[in-house]
Amino acid sequence: MCYFHFLISILLLSIFNTSSLAAPPSYNVVSFGAKPDGRTDSTKAFLSAWANACGSPRAATIYVPPGRFFLRNVAFQGPCKNNRITIRIDGTLVAPSDYRVIGNAGNWLFFQHVDGVTLNSGILDGQGTALWACKNSGKNCPSGATSMGFSNCNNIAINGLTSLNSQMYHVVFNGCNNVKLKGVKVLASGNSPNTDGIHVQLSSDVTILNTRISTGDDCVSIGPGTSNLWIENVACGPGHGISIGSLGKDLNEAGVQNVTVKTVTFTGTQNGLRIKSWGRPSNGFARNILFRNAIMKNVQNPIIIDQNYCPDNIGCPGQVSGVKISDVTYQDVHGTSATEVAVNFDCSSKYPCSRIRLEDVKLTYKNQPAAASCSHADGSASGLVQPKGCL
Ligand SMILES: *[C@@H]1O[C@H](CO)[C@@H](O)[C@H](O)[C@H]1NC(C)=O
Repeated sequence: MCYFHFLISILLLSIFNTSSLAAPPSYNVVSFGAKPDGRTDSTKAFLSAWANACGSPRAATIYVPPGRFFLRNVAFQGPCKNNRITIRIDGTLVAPSDYRVIGNAGNWLFFQHVDGVTLNSGILDGQGTALWACKNSGKNCPSGATSMGFSNCNNIAINGLTSLNSQMYHVVFNGCNNVKLKGVKVLASGNSPNTDGIHVQLSSDVTILNTRISTGDDCVSIGPGTSNLWIENVACGPGHGISIGSLGKDLNEAGVQNVTVKTVTFTGTQNGLRIKSWGRPSNGFARNILFRNAIMKNVQNPIIIDQNYCPDNIGCPGQVSGVKISDVTYQDVHGTSATEVAVNFDCSSKYPCSRIRLEDVKLTYKNQPAAASCSHADGSASGLVQPKGCL
């Protein structure tokens, strides 16, 4: 009898130890020594929690409870032993306020070579204000750290994350495939330099949904080598708009293709829907781009293609852009322009923009139809298009 009970216990134990019924391991950063006091350096504790989750042969969770956790730059390195790591953040991660600490580190929170990471909620406080002041004063300052960077990664989901006051870019995806962002909030001052909200490059199948971005540079910037990008339901402003580019800085460059930007609102931004490339030789391109259902509220350049980008006239005088722009559609774009020219296609004289389509576009300036300006742009207009196209 006793022996029989013993056998059953062994049997039950082994079932609960190995079956999928067992809860995945959860690693609370506090149990590794993190302190929610906003001052104690919790970097090592986060790295230990990551080492455990990443080394787990099955799905694992990292838990960050409420409170403020001070972190220096942290690299969450893969590859991991499982591809189901969830990071649940109920608290705030706080960067050093002295920008010298991580200002040259590239990234504050950096995920590299990871596959299957989900981030749920949480606040990132990049404490960037002192660095912006340094940059705005014209002094020589560190370039600043991206608050959260992903490099060479697959299958990433970010739900409900808030990024405040990043030193430089807020969130960057470089060399990533299959990324889904939902309900992300980005907040920084309208005069914070280089604080792009979400930057995507060399990445495919990225989806950005239901996001509010107020920042000092592009709300979303789309770099070379981006394909199959879907952006839907984004509120942008202040900021520099949603921008494909800058493209064509390098002679050899991967192109951008199949980008959809749908149901977006721009409020008081420098640009709305922008494509820009350097005025210099390149084999880059941007094609199959759909901008659909956009509302402009007092936007300086609601629709713009600028192929003569050359900041400070360094590195391109007298040259023309090699970037080929084709099959770009603007559909159902309405609202107000803060300048007279609401539609501006300034394309490459060597490779004119081709198959630009305007459909149901109505933009006004001071309650009058705004103006359009075209150079080296071919295409067509259909439906009500105001300002009357110059294609
Ligand atoms: C374009 O990208 C979307 C995702 O944004 C994808 O569903 C679609 O299949 C892509 N189209 C092509 C032709 O690759």
